[in-house]
Amino acid sequence: MPPPRETDCEFGVPFPGRVLDGSRWTRTGLRDPGAPFDWTRVFGRDAPRVVDLGCGNGRYLIGSALARPATDHLGIDLVQVAVDFAAQRANRRGLTNVRFVVADAVTWMYDRLAPASVDEVHVYHPQPYYEPDDRARRLLTPEFIERTWTVLRPGGMLVLQTDNRSYWKYLMAAVPKHFLPELLPGPWPDAPAGRTRREISARLKGLVVWRMQARRRDAPLAIAVPAPDFDADRPSFRARRRR
Ligand SMILES: C[S@@+](CC[C@H](N)C(=O)[O-])C[C@H]1O[C@@H](n2cnc3c(N)ncnc32)[C@H](O)[C@@H]1O
Repeated sequence: MPPPRETDCEFGVPFPGRVLDGSRWTRTGLRDPGAPFDWTRVFGRDAPRVVDLGCGNGRYLIGSALARPATDHLGIDLVQVAVDFAAQRANRRGLTNVRFVVADAVTWMYDRLAPASVDEVHVYHPQPYYEPDDRARRLLTPEFIERTWTVLRPGGMLVLQTDNRSYWKYLMAAVPKHFLPELLPGPWPDAPAGRTRREISARLKGLVVWRMQARRRDAPLAIAVPAPDFDADRPSFRARRRR
């Protein structure tokens, strides 16, 4: 894999931070421990903790790690090449407060991250899955949202963003049971062009992006939440697949 260039840009938007002299590079790639994740051992301290599920190339997490040096960050994604790029960029920025792992977010949320151990969980542009047979693969189910509530500490925050209208509508119904959503009308003040690669590309295509940050409730509401069985509605995608 070629190294990212010094002048890192995606769609004309500079990647956060700058590449340091090689003597200051770090190692941020992590092997799945196959056991509960020991934040204190890995980071060598006890600090607030942020997790990005489906972190892609790490744009949000690297920007946050640079802006919040006193907070530890963990990025999880299924795709090796995305995580390689994320780790390489973080290494070359000399970051010590971020790690990236190739793994399934579901496994990590249930088997690696302990209850009441994380301060923020972020999910940017979870895959909508357009085919009916793939709907069961959607990440944000009622059970997964409940597990996120369990993994977060009291007062913790869930941050969600999507450019899929149907997924957003679903989240607006599913999240309030465990969280108090606050909707953000416009771009993030810390990243006006977009926090993530997908956000930047979606906006360049003219898609609407919906964002919420949702504070953890002390106790869940006694309401029923449907399964994410919605039609993600992208007919052009289906037409391409049929050809
Ligand atoms: C549409 S991309 C968004 C990437 C990034 N968050 C962004 O906004 O640019 C969705 C990402 O979620 C990852 N992903 C999907 N299911 C996952 C899972 N179960 N565990 C970890 N990553 C997952 C994919 O590999 C992909 O990188």
